[in-house]
Amino acid sequence: MAKTATLTYGNQKIELPIIEGSEGELGIDITELRAKTGLITLDPAFGNTGACRSAITYIDGDKGILRYRGIPIEQLAENSTFIETAWLLIFGELPQRDQLRRFSQRLTVNAHLHEDFKHHFQGFPVNAPPMAMLSAMIGTLACFHTNLLHVEDAAVLEETAARIISKVRTIAAYSYRQSSGLPFIYPDPKLRYVANFLHMMFSMPYDQYVVDPDIEHALNMILILHADHEQNCSTSTVRVVGSSQANLFASASAGVSALWGPLHGGANVAVLEQLEQIHHGGLTPQQVIAKAKDKNDPFRLMGFGHRVYKNFDPRARILKTSADKVLAKLGVKDPLLDIAMKLEELALKDSYFVERKLYPNVDFYSGIIMKAIGIPVNMFTVMFAIGRMPGWIANWKEQFDDKTSRIARPRQIYTGPKLRDYLPMDKRN
Ligand code: CMC
Repeated sequence: MAKTATLTYGNQKIELPIIEGSEGELGIDITELRAKTGLITLDPAFGNTGACRSAITYIDGDKGILRYRGIPIEQLAENSTFIETAWLLIFGELPQRDQLRRFSQRLTVNAHLHEDFKHHFQGFPVNAPPMAMLSAMIGTLACFHTNLLHVEDAAVLEETAARIISKVRTIAAYSYRQSSGLPFIYPDPKLRYVANFLHMMFSMPYDQYVVDPDIEHALNMILILHADHEQNCSTSTVRVVGSSQANLFASASAGVSALWGPLHGGANVAVLEQLEQIHHGGLTPQQVIAKAKDKNDPFRLMGFGHRVYKNFDPRARILKTSADKVLAKLGVKDPLLDIAMKLEELALKDSYFVERKLYPNVDFYSGIIMKAIGIPVNMFTVMFAIGRMPGWIANWKEQFDDKTSRIARPRQIYTGPKLRDYLPMDKRN
C-alpha cells in the first residue's frame, strides 16, 4: 500500500502522508496542506475527518464491532462492572485488584455532595429538565474542588476522575428528586455504584428501596454499553473544550450539553415518546414506517440509523436480549416492547432502511429497560451521561497527555459579503 497520497492542484503536486491505525484504518495526513498550498479541506459535520489519534475505542461500523481498549463490548457487558470498565477506558488496562479496590474506595468516599452544594438545587424550578441541572451542577463542582482544576500528575487525574464519576451519579439522583419535589437521599457507603444510585433515586427517608440484583446487573450493563463511543458529538465537544486547557469539570459539563440533543443522547427519550405516541395515537407500525420514509415529512424513526454503524449497533443487540430478561423478571408486559419489535422487523426488510443501512441503535431498546426499572423518561439522557462520563474523561486525559496537542480551531470557507462600508442609520433602507 502506498505510503503517500498525491494531490494535484493547478501545476502543484503534493505528497500527503498516509497514516495507518492499529486495525488497518487509513487516513490522509493533511496537517501541512494549508502551509504548502493555501488550501483547507471542507467537511461539514466531520464525516470524513479524523480529529485525533486515539487508543481508547475501536469501532468497525460496517461489521458492527465495538471494542474498548481492544476488548469486545460483548465480553465487557457480560463479565465486567461499570467501574472496572471506567478504569479500563481511562487508564488503558483492566485494573489490578488493588487498583480497583482503591478506585472503588475513592468513589465511595466521594459519593456525597458538599452541604453548600445541595443548596444550588433549590434554585432550580420544579420541572427543570434534569439535563440542564446536570450540566450546570457538573460545572459547579469546579467551585468546590478548586484544588483539582490543574491536573499535574496521574494521581490528581485519578482523584478528579473518581470524584466526577461518583458525584455525577449523586447529582443525577438529586436532580430527579428536586424535579419531583422529593427529599434528597444521602448515598449509602455500603452499596455498590449502581445500587447506590437506585437507592438515592428511589428510597424514602422512611422506606429503604431494596435493590434487586438482576436490575442492578441490567443497569450496570447499560452504563457499560454507553461508556464510550470514540469521537461522537459529546466526546468531540469535551475534547474541543479541553483543548483550550479548560479543566475536566468544565469540559464534562459541555459534554452533557452536547449529549442532550435528540440526534445524540436525547434520542433515548425521543424513542420512548415516539413509541408512546404510536401506542396511544392509533398509528400502526406500518404507518410509522411509511411516515419515516416520506421525504415530505420531517419525521424520523428515532433509535434508527447511525453515522458510523452501517450494520446492527452491537449495543442494540445486547440491549434487546436484556430487555426481554428484565421485563420477564419484573413481570412487566409492556406493549411498547411489542411495538418496538414490530418496527424493527418491518424496517429490517424495508428497502428504504436496507439501502440506507439504517439499523436499530443503542437508544432503541435502552429506554424500554429503564422504563421497566422505574427510571422516569426525562432521566434517560441523564443515565446516558452517567454512562458516558468515563469515555469523556478518558478522551480528555488522552488529549491532555499528548504533549503535541494544540487548541482545536477549525477553519471555514467564508461566504458572506465582500468589503463594504458602514452606513449611518438614515442611509439604510
Ligand atoms: N429515519 C428515517 N430516515 C433516516 C433515519 C431515521 N432514523 N436516519 C437516517 N435516515 C435517512 C436520511 O433521511 C437520509 O436519507 P437520504 O439519503 O434519502 O437523504 C439517510 O438516511 C442518511 O441520513 P443522515 O441524516 O445523512 O445520516 P447521519 O449520519 O447524518 O445521521 C443520525 C445519523 C443518527 C443522526 C440519524 O440516523 C438519525 O437522525 N437517527 C434518529 C436519531 C437517533 O436515533 N439518534 C441516536 C444515534 S445513536 C446514539 C448517539 O449517538 O447518541
